[in-house]
Amino acid sequence: MTATIIDGKAFAAGIRARVADHVTRLKEESGITPGLAVVLVGEDPASAVYVRNKGRQTVEVGMNSYEHKLPAETSEGDLLALIERLNADPAVHGILVQLPLPKHLNADLVINAIDPAKDVDGFHISNVGLLGTGQKAMVPCTPLGCLMMLRDRLGDLSGLDAVVVGRSNIVGKPMAQLLLGDNCTVTIAHSRTKNLADVCRRADILVAAVGRPGMIPGDWVKPGATVIDVGINRIPAPEKGEGKTRLVGDVDFASAVEVAGAITPVPGGVGPMTIACLLANTLTACCRAHG
Ligand code: GUN
Repeated sequence: MTATIIDGKAFAAGIRARVADHVTRLKEESGITPGLAVVLVGEDPASAVYVRNKGRQTVEVGMNSYEHKLPAETSEGDLLALIERLNADPAVHGILVQLPLPKHLNADLVINAIDPAKDVDGFHISNVGLLGTGQKAMVPCTPLGCLMMLRDRLGDLSGLDAVVVGRSNIVGKPMAQLLLGDNCTVTIAHSRTKNLADVCRRADILVAAVGRPGMIPGDWVKPGATVIDVGINRIPAPEKGEGKTRLVGDVDFASAVEVAGAITPVPGGVGPMTIACLLANTLTACCRAHG
């Protein structure tokens, strides 16, 4: 059996098209244009690429994009002052501070300074608490994208065994909350989990978010399971030429595709969904701000 490949690129394009339609109507009917501010501190090359992509796609769906690029040595006070200004700016409906921040900045303090209503990443402690208690929250973009693909593929998730490998605040923990909200039986596994292979083999839904290239082989996958690979790992690819690299997930795709019922590829799976959900969250924040 070969798994169905879940096309995150096409799925994300559909979300962006719906967001763009909604933005057009909002402009026509109310004269409001949603605005997203993205703050990048320092010159991390991967972060710079993400921020550029976010800015481009924000404009493509008809929203305003405000990019704030600050030097790596920016003080906490200056960064907090910028966030205060963005919180108070009625043209800004969403604020995203790209992570990781340089070491001298306290990421928790910075994130919790964002107005929770503009926290389109869903990382503010208020949104984390709202999500954890089943209330209306801004939901982190990557797990939200994963949930959308799972619902699309499986319909009702009630009663399914879901295993989330990875316990990060950005993906693993909110993913587990979302799956619990959809009535799955949820296990969060991590680097200290005993018999990880056996735990994974129980999963009807297996979400891998550990950041270790190919660490989950096909024989850890239950036959017919739906596998969501959140990992985006850049590894050397000497077969493509000296110094070349390629992207791989946390799941060993070649072996897992033979066992799973459906699987997301890397690239082209979860990745494109993250920015699409960010745009959807920005639209949501804008609509909530304007009643
Ligand atoms: N860095 C890696 N992923 C993310 C994300 O989803 N949001 C932010 N702000 N930074 C990130």
